[in-house]
Order: sequence, then structure tokens, then C-alpha cells
Amino acid sequence: MARYAGHVQIVTTALNGERRGVAVTAACSVSDAPPTVLVCLNHNNEKNKIFFDSGVFALNSLAAHHQPLSHAFSGLEKLTMDERFAHGEWDALATGAPTLKDAVATYDCRVVQKIPYTTHTILIGEVASLRLGGQDAALVYMDRSYHSL
Ligand SMILES: Cc1cc2nc3c(=O)[nH]c(=O)nc-3n(C[C@H](O)[C@H](O)[C@H](O)COP(=O)(O)O)c2cc1C
Repeated sequence: MARYAGHVQIVTTALNGERRGVAVTAACSVSDAPPTVLVCLNHNNEKNKIFFDSGVFALNSLAAHHQPLSHAFSGLEKLTMDERFAHGEWDALATGAPTLKDAVATYDCRVVQKIPYTTHTILIGEVASLRLGGQDAALVYMDRSYHSL
């Protein structure tokens, strides 16, 4: 999997005043009619339960200059959620999931299907709101390091 180049995203959700965001690369587009994306989240991590309960998520596609943001949301620094979200400027669109104001693109989604498979659950989300940012270079993760595309 380390040889698989992936666009880094921060996937977020919110439920009852609690919010969570994690850095992911296992996310992609599914269809454009209706606009649909998917993300794969490790369900062996108890803290990811909020993603499966909330029914909403936002995929925030990162630009190359967001590398410190990805690191903050990677779990490596053991930051609290408030400490993670102190990096970057966040607001909300249609679903209430936190959205990164200067993301390359933000896909704000309602979950339409959850598919558990081995360690991960695939969340399929229909895009309720879309925001496009600047045409910055993308942040890509491959061979255990960051690249700019
Ligand atoms: C570049 C990168 C890609 C990642 N991709 C995924 C992914 O696709 N799915 C996933 O469940 N976790 C992925 N992770 C791991 C999560 O970011 C990590 O488990 C999470 O932030 C841990 O948060 P916690 O300490 O609050 O549990 C990735 C981490 C990095 C650095």
C-alpha cells in the first residue's frame, strides 16, 4: 500500500457538539450523478465510531502547503481534537461537518451506505454541498512521505 499514491484529505464529522477529523488517503470519487464519494475508515479505532453514527462527513482535499495540517490530523502527535482543529480555519456548509476554508475542494456529504470490510468501513456519501478552492498543487502521500503534485 505504501506504493499507492494518494491525495491526502482531512475527513471530518460532528455529532452532538463533538467533532472529529483524521487524515486519510483511502478516499475517492464514486459517481457524478448523483455526485458521490467514498472514504475508508478503520473501525478498530473506537474513536472513529462517531463517523459511523453521525450520518455525515466532509472530505477536505489538501493542497501541498497543508502538510503541517495533515501531520496534526495524523494521530502521530497525540493532539486533542481542539488542538487539531486549531490548525487551519474551519466552518460548516450543509451537513454541519467541519469544512476547511482553503481546501482545494470540499465535498460535504450525507452517508448513503456503510460497508464494513475486514478492519475498515467504507462510507459512501452523497455530496450535499461542494466548495472549490484555488488551483493549488495537491498534497500526495506515497512511499511514507509527502509529495506535491
Ligand atoms: C497520510 C495518511 C493517510 C492515512 N489514511 C488513512 C485512511 O485512509 N483511513 C484511516 O482509517 N486512517 C488513515 N490514516 C490514519 C489516521 O489519520 C489516524 O489513525 C488517526 O488520525 C488517528 O487518530 P486518533 O489518534 O485520534 O485515533 C492515515 C494517516 C496518514 C498520515
